[in-house]
Amino acid sequence: MYGLIHTALRDMVIEELGDHTWLEITEVSNVPSDSFLTMRSYDDEVTLALVSAASSVLKLPVADALEAFGLYWMTTFAPKEYGALLDHTGNDPIQFLENLDDLHDRISTAFTDFKPPSFRVAISSQNAATIKYVSNRKGLTPFVLGILKGLGQRFDNGIEITKIEPVACERGEQCDITISLENADG
Ligand code: HEM
Repeated sequence: MYGLIHTALRDMVIEELGDHTWLEITEVSNVPSDSFLTMRSYDDEVTLALVSAASSVLKLPVADALEAFGLYWMTTFAPKEYGALLDHTGNDPIQFLENLDDLHDRISTAFTDFKPPSFRVAISSQNAATIKYVSNRKGLTPFVLGILKGLGQRFDNGIEITKIEPVACERGEQCDITISLENADG
C-alpha cells in the first residue's frame, strides 16, 4: 500500500503512545527505514508487517489494532491532510458513503498503481443501510469498521454497526455491513 498509510499509522502511535513505542514497532516489524514515502507504493507485505508488529508490541489482536487505526484515519489523519476532499464527499453519513468510490477515484491520478476498495450502499429504511465492501485485499474489514465509527463521530450522527456478513469471494475480501443511524432525522 501507499506510504501514506504507513505514515498515518506512525503518526497515530507517536501521538497516542510516543516515539519510544513506535521505535519498538519498527524494530519488531523489520521493515526498511525508507517505507514511509507517502506517494510511493509498497508491497502489501510491508503494511502487514507494520500492523502485525503494532499488534504484538501493543498486545492487541490485529483486528483491534486495525479498527483503532481506521478510527484515527477518519477522525484525525484524513481531516488534517485531506480536509477539503472529505468536505466535498458528503454532508451526511449516507451521502458520504455513496460518494466514497468517487473520493478514491478523484485521487487516482496522484496515486497511480492504486488498488482502492469499493463501497456500494443500499438504503433499506429511513435509518438503516447495507454497505457492500469489496477489496482486493484480505483482512481489512476491521479497518473499515473503525472508519465507519469515525464517520459517525464526524457527523455527530451515531452509526451503529448492526450486522457484518462475510460474502464468499475468490480473491480479496467482501462483506455486507449493515448500519443503523441514530439521528436519521438530523
Ligand atoms: C481523504 C481521504 C482518503 C484518502 C486520501 C484515501 C487514500 C487511500 C489510499 C492511498 C489507500 C491505499 C490503496 C493502495 O495503496 O493501493 C486507501 C485504501 C483504503 N481506503 Fe481510502 N482514502 C481516503 C478515505 C477513505 C475513507 C473515508 C474510507 C472509508 C471507508 C476509505 C477506505 C479505504 C480502505 C478500506 C482501504 C484499504 C484498501 C482495501 O480495502 O483494499 N478511505 N485509501
